[in-house]
Amino acid sequence: MKPILFALPGNEAMGAELCRLRGWEAGDWEVRSFPDGETHIRYLSEVAGREVILVCSLDRPNARVVPLYLAAGVARELGARRIGLVVPYLAYMRQDARFHSGEGVTARHFAGLLGRAGDWLVTVDPHLHRIHRLDEIYGIPSRVVAAAPAIAAWVVEHVGQPLLIGPDEESEQWVAQVAAAADCPYTVLRKVRRGDRDVSVSAPELAGWRERTPVLVDDIASTARTLIAAVGRLREAGMPPPVCVAVHPLFVGEAYAELLAAGVAEVACTDTIAHRCSRIGMAAAIGDAADALSACCDGVGI
Ligand code: R5P
Repeated sequence: MKPILFALPGNEAMGAELCRLRGWEAGDWEVRSFPDGETHIRYLSEVAGREVILVCSLDRPNARVVPLYLAAGVARELGARRIGLVVPYLAYMRQDARFHSGEGVTARHFAGLLGRAGDWLVTVDPHLHRIHRLDEIYGIPSRVVAAAPAIAAWVVEHVGQPLLIGPDEESEQWVAQVAAAADCPYTVLRKVRRGDRDVSVSAPELAGWRERTPVLVDDIASTARTLIAAVGRLREAGMPPPVCVAVHPLFVGEAYAELLAAGVAEVACTDTIAHRCSRIGMAAAIGDAADALSACCDGVGI
């Protein structure tokens, strides 16, 4: 029997696209908040004996993780055979080390929480830096979907003569993949972060690249300070206004407007998070990964 999918609030478009592409059943349920803010979940579709797929991107994670956790728990209580978590943006991956005494590696605690909710996990380009693989912290089977092929296809279609640029060393893993797939050159800037919104970026020699269209590629745009600092550095170097691409468009507060005001040609992000700049679709790749992982869990294709 095909899986039955339930999309947490804000994830309806991704859920509908996954059902359309994979032929999964779109489940019917009610999710609402009680007046005191607690979450009420009622499954209207039968989930007993079914593989239930919950779709929930975890931007603004503290508000979203409790409904996701409860949705999984209720489905299990009602007899779901297996619970798959499709989490296009996986939060809490950046606190992947004890940067200061007294801190914790919260990525591990968060992984423990999600690992108790679901039986498998699919996500897109989690921020793997000091943690190299999801299974270093996640105890359930997982698949990482790379956004690079979809981003590269978008760049090839929309940008003439691109030069891909990573705003910091951490971004090289994504920029190098996109550049290889788009068959174009890339370079990487150097970033110093002094605080959440205090970022500076230095650029290598760019004079030889002025005929190219710069395309900044990062995994996450949160405050957008990283991209804004990189845009400033590129403009100082005499480069044309860059195209900015982020896998996960968090864009907190006024970040998106501030990035546009910094002098960019265009902002294009994937749809792991619903945002007005989400125009690079990831549902096909996510659906493939989820079906493959589900088959693995059934002992097929191992
Ligand atoms: C850094 O670790 C990430 O790759 C991003 O560059 C960073 O998360 C972007 O954050 P912000 O938009 O707040 O500068």
